[in-house]
Amino acid sequence: MSTTKDFTDHVMATYGRFPLTLVEGKGARVSDDVGREYLDFCMGIAVCSLGHCHPRLVAAIQQQAAKLMHVSNLYLNEPQGLMAKEMNEFEVQIPGKIFFSNSGAEANDGLIKSARRYGHHKPQANGKPRFEVITFQQSFHGRTLGSMAATGQAKIQQGFDPMLPGFRYLPYNDIAALENAVSDETVGFLLEPVQGEGGVHVATKAFLEALDALCKKHDLLLMFDEVQAGFGRCGQAMAWRAIAPDIKPDGISWAKGMGGGVPIGAFWLSDRTIDDSGKTLASLMGPGSHGTTYGGNPLVCAAAIEVLREIREKNLSANALHQEQRIRAEIASWKLPVITDVRGLGLLLGVGLRADLIPTPEGSTAALTVVKSLMAEGLIVPPAGPETFRLLPPLNVTDAEIDEALSIIHRTLSCFK
Ligand SMILES: Cc1ncc(COP(=O)(O)O)c(C=O)c1O
Repeated sequence: MSTTKDFTDHVMATYGRFPLTLVEGKGARVSDDVGREYLDFCMGIAVCSLGHCHPRLVAAIQQQAAKLMHVSNLYLNEPQGLMAKEMNEFEVQIPGKIFFSNSGAEANDGLIKSARRYGHHKPQANGKPRFEVITFQQSFHGRTLGSMAATGQAKIQQGFDPMLPGFRYLPYNDIAALENAVSDETVGFLLEPVQGEGGVHVATKAFLEALDALCKKHDLLLMFDEVQAGFGRCGQAMAWRAIAPDIKPDGISWAKGMGGGVPIGAFWLSDRTIDDSGKTLASLMGPGSHGTTYGGNPLVCAAAIEVLREIREKNLSANALHQEQRIRAEIASWKLPVITDVRGLGLLLGVGLRADLIPTPEGSTAALTVVKSLMAEGLIVPPAGPETFRLLPPLNVTDAEIDEALSIIHRTLSCFK
């Protein structure tokens, strides 16, 4: 049996972990090592789209594990080709090519590298490559050197200077700030259509459309980080389509919910032509440009295919919208002073808190205080910044499970006044 001491003695303390050891899960519920059950509205931070141990996902993993788990990307494997085809045909619905990674940060690194390739192919007037990717304040793109530098939060970068050069951070949803933002060195924009870790903020349609227009005007790449928001969570297969459906991005990154719990990420580049020779954007990442040992192996792709099929076949993105409406209506009816607002889209929701009403120990945050209180009452949720907690239930969550979570939230938050 693993103990808390094993963690403190042997696991790097990169997380401020809750003292809770989770051992088993089914659907929207998990239980800990002393048999206590929790309603899990964290879901591995928006990873377990189908809930814990969904039978279709378990069967896909078991069957593929018994057949072929891993081969090198030097060879073809059937699940990877099928996964890419289904993602392109049913989810992205724009001609393009996909590279499979193991995580969201790696997927974003792939987009950053692709943008730099584009900057070499389409340089500045002086012949030097363009390389600058503009991202946004409060964004979160990951923890690798590339994705950390892309992340517009000082606390994520602290102590890791010097940053990879070539990033600038603009205020999110600020159309005026886009004016004059583009320099000779700029090659693209990378943004989350719905910011998750940075407190749950939804891009406005006007903002996305202004960015799209700016990219067309200056020959820049428009790249969406859909790592947390994609694949049904925001009520559409792709989150940007829930906001500005007519936009056709140049690049997209995903991870988290696409695998339902297996470690898989991906980035996509458009097949649009980029010069008179007929070269496509995706073809810039040709042989030798990028690689991974594990990415897109048969095991994770066989699993992810079934996750995305289940989301599509059961129309779980519609359930995300249905539950969003129920959550919003119920929380609004409480009129609790401690709740400032509910932000987000579908089942990527943030509940804003009034920190002045929540007694919080020195060095902690209002969000953490509330998250701990909810956990004590049997509901697991993650924070998003100091004054927001998130609701990230599985996409197949039922009315009854939502009602149960809401009743815990109501009971717990009623104490703060
Ligand atoms: C929007 C977004 N991008 C990228 C990442 C990084 O993904 P990963 O932790 O899989 O590297 C995250 C993780 O929270 C995320 O929310």
